[in-house]
Amino acid sequence: MKNKCIILGIESSCDETAAAVVEYDQKLGRFSVLSQTIYSQIALHAPYGGVYPEIAARAHSEKILPVINKTLLDAKLSKNEIDAIAVTYGPGLVGSLVIGLTAAKTLAYLWQKPLIGINHLEGHIYSNLISNPVIQFPMLGLIASGGHTLLIQMEKPDSYKLLGQTLDDASGEAFDKVGKLLGLDYPAGPALSKLASKGDSKVYHFNLPINKKNNYNFSFSGLKTAVLYLVKSLGGSERLTQKQKADIARAFEDTVVKSLVKKTVSAANNNKIKTVIIGGGVGANQPLRSNLEKELKYYGINFIKPEISLCTDNAVGIAASGAIKFTHKQFNDRQTLNVNPIAIL
Ligand code: KG4
Ligand code: ZN
Repeated sequence: MKNKCIILGIESSCDETAAAVVEYDQKLGRFSVLSQTIYSQIALHAPYGGVYPEIAARAHSEKILPVINKTLLDAKLSKNEIDAIAVTYGPGLVGSLVIGLTAAKTLAYLWQKPLIGINHLEGHIYSNLISNPVIQFPMLGLIASGGHTLLIQMEKPDSYKLLGQTLDDASGEAFDKVGKLLGLDYPAGPALSKLASKGDSKVYHFNLPINKKNNYNFSFSGLKTAVLYLVKSLGGSERLTQKQKADIARAFEDTVVKSLVKKTVSAANNNKIKTVIIGGGVGANQPLRSNLEKELKYYGINFIKPEISLCTDNAVGIAASGAIKFTHKQFNDRQTLNVNPIAIL
């Protein structure tokens, strides 16, 4: 097999239609992003305060071919230069996944290229490798997004052990719901964090959820309810001052970040982890990034984070994960690979 491979990645699991072309130099262990396109459906879902599955599927079906076409044009590549097509098969919204997978299967069949099915969470993990190709194992991944919050241990590439996950809401979902309560638009994570940066950390306080030793599960639904009760006790959302909103946002963000950092650091220490990575939209949160960095440095554990734009859903991580599988000839059947909305690693 040649030393380099070029992979077309396709991602459509939720509300982003994305494609990317990534080159992987196996000898140097280095990735180069040749092109990427993301069509975000945020504006379509904002009026509903969350992702509307039927609208998501329709928008994917409109955009998937233009997005793939633009990505190939931007990479200045013809189909002949693509070695394989990697595509998200799950987890995610069934109607959204079907669009990306059907496009990938059709192109793989027409172009006679290998097809590689990728778990969406692998995409978040492998987004880290773009700027940090050399990783020391064992590795621990904190995936925190609108749909997931979990801790995964990896002894080596492609070996995953779930250490803990959220028992109710995902961390990003909690950001979105609390943001909505404070009058912010969907998805509220970045705006809530900006508001929190103006807040006073000493005014309000929320209890840390599942604050037990060696328990790596998360919970954010009780915290969300605590915010709701606090807002009610202050006379309701409409009567909150900007200062109160900022102080509430600060207390909420501090609690989420503390919970994520505490469990990640404890899981890393107890499992002799050498490298911690983060992924998912909440991985773009600055207090989370800097607090994790500080704590892990204290314990001498490497911390790797993707650039901000690769925290949220993208096809670069899908293509990068596909490149690793390509080098191990881990291909899927072009006719039988199917979507799995509840796929686990
Ligand atoms: O990974 P992602 O794009 O989609 C899913 O797979 O869910 O994550 C989107 C989530 C949203 O809930 C959004 O509010 C949250 O990530 N998010 C943030 C930040 N940026 C995005 N949450 C907190 N702070 C941020 N800076
Ligand atoms: Zn995601």
